[in-house]
Amino acid sequence: MIKKLIVGNWKMNLSVTEASALAQQLVNDVTDVADLAVCPVFPHLGAVSDILKVGGISMGAQDCSTQDNGAFTGQVSAEMLNDVGCTYVIVGHSERRQHNSETSGQVAKKAQKALDNGLSPIICVGETLEQRESGKEKDVVGFQLAQSIPEGAMDYVVAYEPIWAIGTGKVANAEDVAEMHAFIRTQVGASVRILYGGSMKPDNASELLATQNVDGGLIGGASLTAESFLAIAKSV
Ligand code: PGA
Repeated sequence: MIKKLIVGNWKMNLSVTEASALAQQLVNDVTDVADLAVCPVFPHLGAVSDILKVGGISMGAQDCSTQDNGAFTGQVSAEMLNDVGCTYVIVGHSERRQHNSETSGQVAKKAQKALDNGLSPIICVGETLEQRESGKEKDVVGFQLAQSIPEGAMDYVVAYEPIWAIGTGKVANAEDVAEMHAFIRTQVGASVRILYGGSMKPDNASELLATQNVDGGLIGGASLTAESFLAIAKSV
């Protein structure tokens, strides 16, 4: 059985002091029932990395560039993320697809840069409410997977995040999650971890994490306190 992976996506939250304090609390209370990772904003990666160095918790970034280096103001390369201690990088989060008009083609390039630089990309996919209500959710997710996963990639993670469940408190029901994860499994093979994301909280985590083909969670809001993040991890 694949060990579950619980990833905290801190998004654009927490001061460096708060992020360091949260990382320290996680280190103090870490559980090894699941693999854990947290993804702070770029400027806090160095500080958080120093705290996580003692082990037990990995670090990821929330995005990376499609480029290696050079005149790309505001961008951060996968090599730099590796250099500062990242193991993972989230690519293609729906908030980036939406607010930064990121296409699956760009997501594939980012994921490839991650792989080339020793990082494991967490490739996010998910449908809108409208797409689900019109029965197109598998077409949408299947297309995103086909376009976003670099050819020949092995060491990556998929996060299925129905857009209508992110930050809304609405959580996909276990049957829908099981069906979509079974579908994703047919596309990615047995060794790739498939995370569920979207309003995962301590009170719904054990059911979601017990669902077949759910190999962990990508947690937004509930990853911002050690108590709720570790409660989710311990419900594995
Ligand atoms: P949420 O976010 O847990 O706050 O819904 C999940 C995500 O966007 O990764």
